[in-house]
Amino acid sequence: MGKLITFEGIEGCGKTTQIKLLGDYLRKKGYTIYETREPGGTLIGDQIRRILLNPENKGINYITELLLYEACRAQLVKELSVRSEELGVKDKEIILCDRFTDSTLAYQGYGRGIDKGVIKELNKIASGGAKPVLTILLDLDVKTGLGRAIGRNINSQKSEVRSQESAESRFEEEALEFHLKVREGFLKIASEEPERIKIVDANKGIEDIHKEIVKIVENYVI
Ligand SMILES: Nc1ncnc2c1ncn2[C@@H]1O[C@H](COP(=O)(O)OP(=O)(O)O)[C@@H](O)[C@H]1O
Ligand SMILES: [Mg+2]
Repeated sequence: MGKLITFEGIEGCGKTTQIKLLGDYLRKKGYTIYETREPGGTLIGDQIRRILLNPENKGINYITELLLYEACRAQLVKELSVRSEELGVKDKEIILCDRFTDSTLAYQGYGRGIDKGVIKELNKIASGGAKPVLTILLDLDVKTGLGRAIGRNINSQKSEVRSQESAESRFEEEALEFHLKVREGFLKIASEEPERIKIVDANKGIEDIHKEIVKIVENYVI
């Protein structure tokens, strides 16, 4: 599998926006870029994604939810590695993934309160040893993030991307308290792995954040 760079952070912090910008930048530099996301990224994973993000599934058991995320991940990692082998461009390939194992630890561990040791173990099994070389944590206060996400979803209701992005509404409807725990969780996870996880202030403008991310990527990965 190529080099894996993951983007993490609460809803609305700018992950999707920044992945697109970084992907375009790296493609121009001659890298083979593959953009993907969790949950989803595969045919099977996208079906699981629909279950996970459907607001009708509020009653989902937390363990069911955790296992569905891990199931999704196992499928994604397997397909990514098969894909890289087939392409034969391992060394020049960079995979940009919108959320990965740290999201499971932040949401299901710090947010839901499921045992973190269990989650780490499941993360390991599902990712089959694939580890990000770099993780960008876009840190933003919860109210700003949710405000952005809601704004995005209202706008996208008018367009074709609606079904994709508004699907995230199950998480937007969670209590503020939950999102606060998730943000704190992400920061704690980052403090435990400062070499891999770089915190970027997501309050700045889109272009400034992009430039900062490019600097990090150039220093640490390329
Ligand atoms: N730095 C920023 N400042 C202001 N608005 C932003 C910024 N980054 C992204 N946005 C906007 O906020 C919304 C959520 O961004 P998005 O990239 O979808 O976040 P995420 O994928 O992390 O949920 C989008 O409408 C996007 O255009
Ligand atoms: Mg997104």
